[in-house]
Amino acid sequence: MQIPSRRKPLLSKLLLSNARLVNEGEILDVDVLIDGERIATIAASIAAPKGATVIDLAGKYLLPGMIDDQVHFREPGMTHKGDLATESAAAAAGGITSFMDMPNVSPQTTTRSALRDKYGIAENRCTANYGFYLGATNGNIEEVKALRVGEAAGIKAFMGASTGDMLVDNPETLDKLFEHAPVIVLTHCEDSPTIWKNEAAARKRFGDDVPFSEHPAIRSSEACFKSSSLAVDLARRHDALLHILHLTTAIEMGLFSNAHRSKKRITAEVCVHHLWFDESRYGELGARIKCNPAIKGKEDREALIAALNDQRIDIIATDHAPHTVSEKAESYFKSPAGLPLVQHALLTLFDLAFDEQISIELIVDRACHAPADIFAVADRGYVREGWYADLVVIDPARPYRVNASNILSKCQWSPFEGHEFKASIDTTIINGQVVYRDGALTGVVAGQKLEFGRAR
Ligand code: DOR
Repeated sequence: MQIPSRRKPLLSKLLLSNARLVNEGEILDVDVLIDGERIATIAASIAAPKGATVIDLAGKYLLPGMIDDQVHFREPGMTHKGDLATESAAAAAGGITSFMDMPNVSPQTTTRSALRDKYGIAENRCTANYGFYLGATNGNIEEVKALRVGEAAGIKAFMGASTGDMLVDNPETLDKLFEHAPVIVLTHCEDSPTIWKNEAAARKRFGDDVPFSEHPAIRSSEACFKSSSLAVDLARRHDALLHILHLTTAIEMGLFSNAHRSKKRITAEVCVHHLWFDESRYGELGARIKCNPAIKGKEDREALIAALNDQRIDIIATDHAPHTVSEKAESYFKSPAGLPLVQHALLTLFDLAFDEQISIELIVDRACHAPADIFAVADRGYVREGWYADLVVIDPARPYRVNASNILSKCQWSPFEGHEFKASIDTTIINGQVVYRDGALTGVVAGQKLEFGRAR
């Protein structure tokens, strides 16, 4: 699908009438007036100011846009898979109004200068608001120490090798990282030696053509638990801020507290694909659901849902990780891990809500409010007067089928192809501008640099 591009703001005053606003644990019938890039008024009934554009939401759900704290938009250097313009547009079409992008690009974002360059590349090209991580390596502790609060969304450490081989596995480096990180540390937790041992055993058994169904046995629960436990120990020892990304197993849920996020220094995350798929789907979908950490068993998926419901899991994200169709067509060891998810993440969560596994209020709490709180994102993540108008309208009465012609990610495939979601994204508004409506992007490139304020 061709994405038009236009920077000129189209609207100054926009009145959203008859919304079912889902916000701060409540569902309220209200009107919302936007003036410029901010929310001006929220009230039971608002008369349209002169010259305002009015959109009658007729009882559709209005939520703060999702803030996705974990995406791989592949720029710089891997833009045949995706880039900041294409993937941020796909995100906006999925109701994601802000994203935080990972450092495993080329060159890797492992210096403050590479971080500044990446922010430069992003300027005027992102449909959604953007923030970037500094990557930790076995050799860049001085860059980590020099990082100032606000310069990055956080520091990402791959404590297990995944796409791009940005592994931090030197015990002394890990110790220093947790001792000195001036901002929150985010970890990918899988123990590489355990994985390598499992890979060798699978190769012995199957040769090069390992079935994709072996992925959760290779990237095993044991590998996840070993690494997550180490991350929790390190954070406790140094009283660091830690956020563990994309958890996948029942056993890891015992590592986390069910206190509210405002009282925790160690927080936990789950991604939509781990809430949706389980290992019974490898036969049908193969490489299309190969990701790291692996999608695991039914009991694991159920434990993740339970941990969301009792607050041990704080954030829901995507780990959007596009790879091309031909890369994904390779055999097990060659096929890269990762799935494109931003366009369908909120719809996935709404299907789970319609199925009564989670509530709509919980979706908003963990996918919109929590990332704003945990990263101290300025004036976003809630629907509040004076805050940025980053909003998404969900139509619960209009189903949406994913097919080849409506996928916006550059890679042009989705693990959801053929699936009909019960709801659809009706409208997305970013910084007061309508960026997606009636099934199409408007072409307004509204994204701004996010401001982060959380210090260690
Ligand atoms: O499946 C994954 N793909 N997991 C990661 O941690 C990295 C990602 C990627 O960059 O492709």
